Amino acid sequence: MPELSRLLQSMMHKPSPIRQIMKMASQKNIVNMGLDPEEVISYGGGWVGHHAPEEFREAYREIGESREAFHDSGKYSPTLGFPECRQAIAAMERELFGVELEEDNIIVGQSSTQLTHDVLVTVANPGDAILLLDPTYANYMGQIDMALAGSRLLKMPVLDPDTWEYIPEPQDTLDGFVELVEKERPRLVIVPSPDNPSSQVMPQEMVAAMMEVCRERDMLMVIDHAYKTQVFGERPDYFSWSPNDYPHLVTIHSNSKWCRGLGRRLGWIEAHPHIVDGMERTQQCSILCPDTLHQMAMTAYLERSLADGSLRDYIEKSRRAYHRAAQVTVTEIRHHLDMPHLTPQGGLYTLMKVGEDGDAFVKRVLQNTGVLFIPGRGFGDTLAQGVRISYGPHVENTEVIREGFERVAAYLG
Ligand SMILES: Cc1ncc(COP(=O)(O)O)c(C=O)c1O
Repeated sequence: MPELSRLLQSMMHKPSPIRQIMKMASQKNIVNMGLDPEEVISYGGGWVGHHAPEEFREAYREIGESREAFHDSGKYSPTLGFPECRQAIAAMERELFGVELEEDNIIVGQSSTQLTHDVLVTVANPGDAILLLDPTYANYMGQIDMALAGSRLLKMPVLDPDTWEYIPEPQDTLDGFVELVEKERPRLVIVPSPDNPSSQVMPQEMVAAMMEVCRERDMLMVIDHAYKTQVFGERPDYFSWSPNDYPHLVTIHSNSKWCRGLGRRLGWIEAHPHIVDGMERTQQCSILCPDTLHQMAMTAYLERSLADGSLRDYIEKSRRAYHRAAQVTVTEIRHHLDMPHLTPQGGLYTLMKVGEDGDAFVKRVLQNTGVLFIPGRGFGDTLAQGVRISYGPHVENTEVIREGFERVAAYLG
């Protein structure tokens, strides 16, 4: 067999922990365990289960039905994305979130996953230190290894593994951040908000103080806003910060979660034009240009739904549905298991402390109940005794959430 690159050879030894567990829950493995795949209840899925807006589907239909529009959707897009698409995104961000920005603050890409890779390549150098929260989104670790050879991963704990409190002492967390920055000089920090896996929204004071440190040290703050529309309480001010006022801020956005566009891959970056220019050069090499069909449909949908108010209604309705699903999940945990857990402030997840090794707990619960949790360790050491529970896929059928916890409670006694 031909040899893989040295990078890949080393990465093959560190496969994504989430992929590993999803393999364990594969149809074949479930059958091997003597379980009926039809009966498995999964809290594993990191995706949304609500439907895309009908008007969005209509926009795709119109393109499909018109010979010329379909022909157009087969052409290359500019590397930055179509100007009208970038303008429509800017209008959405201004109207829904109060972000003051223009077309030149935006580059459209294939997804936040691809854009995260390209941001790393654009603003950091091989060997740089990169600062992550602990716990954090499990894919960043591999993405950093891949984009920046020899980089150093720094972790900033934000969950107390004993008390299961998220940032219990903000000043201590901030002091820890400053200490790490001074000692290790990271090039950037990545903050998902709302977060995966904790579903917490990073508080305004933390982000403001970290941003100031980034400005002083010429460091970048990358906020991953994959779940921006799914915030259950009041949104902190930084959700409306303009990249023109904060040149050290890069925000990453995606169609995956707000409009169930997970498979209709499209994302974008909001940043100072200086960074957008750099990203254009990177993207010429990585994907050449973003998808045309998705940009066309999204532009048509955003223009119409912003004008008639239906976008705001759709987002509000979905936000409430996820909040309800989060409440059902938390209520069931309290009622049936009474284990320490976080109350979601947004997003699709909660974290539960199981009081034993998370991997072992997930395996025995799956084998004995057919209920799948995700072990916490892949998200960081703070979650060695934790599991991630996702209510996202069950948002339109919260009964399933109840049933799963009943089964687990019956098994654990
Ligand atoms: C925090 C976070 N960022 C990015 C992604 C991936 O998003 P995309 O589908 O836009 O690549 C996910 C997916 O679960 C996520 O949780």
